[in-house]
Amino acid sequence: MHETVAQLEAAVARWNERGWPVPSVHLVSGSGLAVDLPGKVLHRAPLRDVVPFEVHGIVGHPLEVEIIELPSGRTVLYQRGRVHSYQGFDAHQTVFVVRLAALLGCRRLLMSNAAGGLDPALRPGDLVFLRDHLNLMALNPLRGELPATWGPQFPDMGGAYDAGLRELARKTARELGLRAGEGVYAGVAGPSYETPAEVRMLRTLGADLVGMSTVLEVIAARHLGVRCLCLSLVSNLAAGVGGDAALDHEEVLEAGREAARGVQLLLGALLQAVNG
Ligand code: HPA
Repeated sequence: MHETVAQLEAAVARWNERGWPVPSVHLVSGSGLAVDLPGKVLHRAPLRDVVPFEVHGIVGHPLEVEIIELPSGRTVLYQRGRVHSYQGFDAHQTVFVVRLAALLGCRRLLMSNAAGGLDPALRPGDLVFLRDHLNLMALNPLRGELPATWGPQFPDMGGAYDAGLRELARKTARELGLRAGEGVYAGVAGPSYETPAEVRMLRTLGADLVGMSTVLEVIAARHLGVRCLCLSLVSNLAAGVGGDAALDHEEVLEAGREAARGVQLLLGALLQAVNG
């Protein structure tokens, strides 16, 4: 068996020894997209306390987990910041917390991320629910021997981004008066940004957005039968998409501030709306 299996068994045992509850939703927020959730923080710990390897955030972003009891009584495992493969982690380390939540019995994964816009119709600040992805990371968290009880070796990825959750998310956005589209996300290894030629390639391949996260987590979650929803914030237009005109930095920042409010509203409302 791959060494991650024993590490996860130990992490599950430690969670239970601490008497921490089984979360009904695992929420992962991307860089710069942390939200304040309503409800009571039952437990807070550095991410280092729940994963068996050294983790560090990108400068100035401490990685931590919180277990929050929402006003509805539902508990959320809120992971502020993620483990990125470009930091040098392998695919199994990158998805460790996703697997931990799933093995504890959590059946929903909600994620946000910041992404570059490839579709010329997208603007910085736009919100997009992912409909599908291209895994271009040359990594896969299902490599190696994993327990058959976790899931099939060759899992179907047809409904990777759950249609029901997406429908609920779009309805919630409409009710809040927020505009949010749908798109296909290309997951690349990074950490260098794309060249203009790579951006043209990604567009030709059918991607609307590009980023350096999310796809490995979704593969691991689907393998374990977890339903996934991902909200991308377009933080910039990918190289060359905006033409030669330089972006006005102040406009981008303002779009980001506006959108951060939308992300906050949307994720808060969604957590209340998601069942089970
Ligand atoms: N490319 C890749 N990843 C990203 C980008 C981008 O333009 N923006 C935010 N994450």
